[in-house]
Amino acid sequence: MQVADVSSNFLGFDYAEFYVGSAAAWEYLHWKAFGFRPVAYSGPETGRKDSVSYVMQQGTMRLVLTASLSEDSEISRHVSRHGDGVKDVAMTVTDVDKVAKTLASNGAILVSHPKEEKDDSGYLRRAVIGGYGDTVHSLIDRSQYRGTFRPGYEPLHEDASPVGFVKIDHVVGNVEEGKMDHWVNYYSKSFGFKQLMSFDDKDISTEYSALRSKVVHDGKRRVVMPINEPAKGRKKSQIEEFLDYYRSPGVQHIAIRTENIIKAVSDMRSRGVVFLDTPDSYYEKLSERVGGIDEPIEELRKHRILVDRDDAGYMLQIFTKPVGDRPTFFYEIIERKGGESFGKGNFKALFESIEREQAKRGNL
Ligand code: FE2
Repeated sequence: MQVADVSSNFLGFDYAEFYVGSAAAWEYLHWKAFGFRPVAYSGPETGRKDSVSYVMQQGTMRLVLTASLSEDSEISRHVSRHGDGVKDVAMTVTDVDKVAKTLASNGAILVSHPKEEKDDSGYLRRAVIGGYGDTVHSLIDRSQYRGTFRPGYEPLHEDASPVGFVKIDHVVGNVEEGKMDHWVNYYSKSFGFKQLMSFDDKDISTEYSALRSKVVHDGKRRVVMPINEPAKGRKKSQIEEFLDYYRSPGVQHIAIRTENIIKAVSDMRSRGVVFLDTPDSYYEKLSERVGGIDEPIEELRKHRILVDRDDAGYMLQIFTKPVGDRPTFFYEIIERKGGESFGKGNFKALFESIEREQAKRGNL
């Protein structure tokens, strides 16, 4: 049977919703350190008795930070099992009824049929589809809605000092060993998503990074989702560690696009955001590896920003330390100068620079 391709109905990421222990603490962190503006709130004051949510925005990127007010709820059970983490990777779509129906008939897990949400600012329609682990995808058609976020939320009017975030670049999921292809097929078959590129065991980076990764997207790179699984490497895979602490597959990181990564990282560092460190030796071989770039190497070294080049150009990236208590979720900050990759070359470069340091100490 010929099934309809609805991939062109996907317009982009709508928001990412976190289930956390304290929404107020996460709001403060994202507001003061990451420069998001609190734009909407829902809780007892707005008629919602059992939970609170803050909506944060910077550029077109939206986060929803949700915590439970009761001891036994879906939210508190999620936080108890997984720690603070991403529950919902929501996507904006056109014609949610058609998309949900098509996805379900293509084998997607239908968590919730399309429902209307309505207030004085119009209405929106939302369906919920299952993803890896306990992660879900809200599909939202907001073409008939003029309000700030969703019915049930009140607008907030706070100032913020943005650091220059533009949008979500990609959202990465970690799944169990041997399950990557299952989930790539899931998004390909039911969402109609395309595979962007793949690298497998033979890939040179695997030996160092101990992970395999494939990328699915809507066809226009508006919704881009790499999916990782652990691979046998020299050391315990970082993906295995994530799975141990998150207790299931889930979102490993959200990459945030900026147009000036040096300024963004400098601003965040001055506000106390902590990033993964990079050995000095990484920068000694950088020009040799990536060729000419606009940014002074000294600036990149100062802020520990990484660079990777592909056929289309280059990209700059850096990773934060885990945001919550468990070694699970973190952010990536990314600036693309034509480069379309996800930083694969940096796995190897980083590992090699660590080995150079080891060799200097006579330990290799
Ligand atoms: Fe990434």
